[in-house]
Amino acid sequence: MAKTYHPRRSHFIMKLLCGFTVLLTAAVAYYVYIPLPRRLSEPWKLLVVAAAFRGVTQVVNITHSLGLGHHIHIINHAVTIFESLIPVDFEGVQSHDAEFHSVPVRVYEPTQMNQVTLRRAVVFFHGGGWSLGFPKLGSYDLLCRKMAAELNAVVVTVDYHMAPDVRFPVQYEDCLQATRHFLRPEVLAHYSVEPQRVAVCGDSAGGNLAAAVAQQIGKDNSTAGTLKLQVLIYPVLQALDFNTASYQQNLNVPILYRELMVHYWLEYLGADPNLIHSLLLNNHTAQDQILADPHRTKLDWMTLLPKHMRKNYKPVIPAVGTPSILKDVPALLDSRAAPLLAEEEVLSMAARAYIMTCEHDVLRDDGTMYGLRLQQAGVSVTLQHYEDCFHGCVSFAFWPLYFSVGIRAVEDYIAWLQENL
Ligand SMILES: *[C@@H]1O[C@H](CO)[C@@H](O)[C@H](O)[C@H]1NC(C)=O
Ligand SMILES: *[C@@H]1O[C@H](CO)[C@@H](O)[C@H](O)[C@H]1NC(C)=O
Ligand SMILES: *[C@@H]1O[C@H](CO)[C@@H](O)[C@H](O)[C@H]1NC(C)=O
Repeated sequence: MAKTYHPRRSHFIMKLLCGFTVLLTAAVAYYVYIPLPRRLSEPWKLLVVAAAFRGVTQVVNITHSLGLGHHIHIINHAVTIFESLIPVDFEGVQSHDAEFHSVPVRVYEPTQMNQVTLRRAVVFFHGGGWSLGFPKLGSYDLLCRKMAAELNAVVVTVDYHMAPDVRFPVQYEDCLQATRHFLRPEVLAHYSVEPQRVAVCGDSAGGNLAAAVAQQIGKDNSTAGTLKLQVLIYPVLQALDFNTASYQQNLNVPILYRELMVHYWLEYLGADPNLIHSLLLNNHTAQDQILADPHRTKLDWMTLLPKHMRKNYKPVIPAVGTPSILKDVPALLDSRAAPLLAEEEVLSMAARAYIMTCEHDVLRDDGTMYGLRLQQAGVSVTLQHYEDCFHGCVSFAFWPLYFSVGIRAVEDYIAWLQENL
């Protein structure tokens, strides 16, 4: 027996389903869509990533307000879950966890050991606003394995302590002490590393730590260890001007929004989170503050940036600000936190540099200005700028979530290390 067929009713259900799908699509599109600069690589992928970040942030905001934990700890749980989904099957590299001067590290070594020649080495500091990220999981783990395999080098990733559990200068000290430990002659010998061929490398906040460590090791002539190169991937280098041309241009470009960057700074320095409103206005470095003056030329982007980057943006220097901020948060003026503020003499002793910047990144000008200041100090600098890139692209270079520009950026800096380390 054929079932009774109700053309009317099934028609109605179809319509209902169609309507529902259209509504759902519209709702998702509304949630996902935000205007993006035209020249960004794979913009729809970035929109989905940004929406996922927004979703996580909203959940975190709710759980945080319910008192279920510090928001950074909750985000790190989400990051762990995501990073654990990334399969790490990589041939030819072995790793072990260790402690260098009581700092947890993971050491990657190519399994094909050539006993005759000594190897090169890279000490890596991961990004994540000095508070997020897991170097031993997912994309960072893969990145280090890739470096070790392709460079046939020993790679040390430093699992430094993070905010809010610790504040500046602990993150910096962890990275410095771990690097110094690795540079000791007996440790280099243990890993068959050639002492003159060690680089530091880091992305974002890791680039900040790499720049600061390179300055300190460069000027410290009491130890035997030296660094040959520093690779700074979209580094964050200063907290005195949150209205550089790139901060103004990219304040709402995912995934590193301007407010988020200021928030990370305040967390790192252990400062009052409410200062965010003042810092966004550059109230901390207003004209009436003599304290900031010796530093102003070091980040004067009207002279340190090429015209095509400045565009028509104007410096934001309020006439009257909040002078107490620099006294309450002295680390804002500390070059160990803000390497762009170092004196030229210190810069002149730092290792040769590769600095990667993205056009669609609030930190573009931090990196660009630092490149020029290093060059002025006589240091050889390779500036690699990507017109179609956003902040964080290097963390998206592996299956399942990758951007072609992320893969390109990783390949480019590894190729530079291949040639120069
Ligand atoms: C989360 O909370 C912060 C601070 O209250 C707010 O600025 C931000 O917009 C919120 N984010 C989302 C996605 O709701
Ligand atoms: C180390 O450098 C400082 C200044 O850069 C210099 O005064 C000192 O003599 C140097 N010491 C050694 C042992 O080279
Ligand atoms: C910035 O400084 C001005 C002048 O002191 C002050 O009136 C204003 O309230 C400050 N803004 C913030 C957000 O603190």
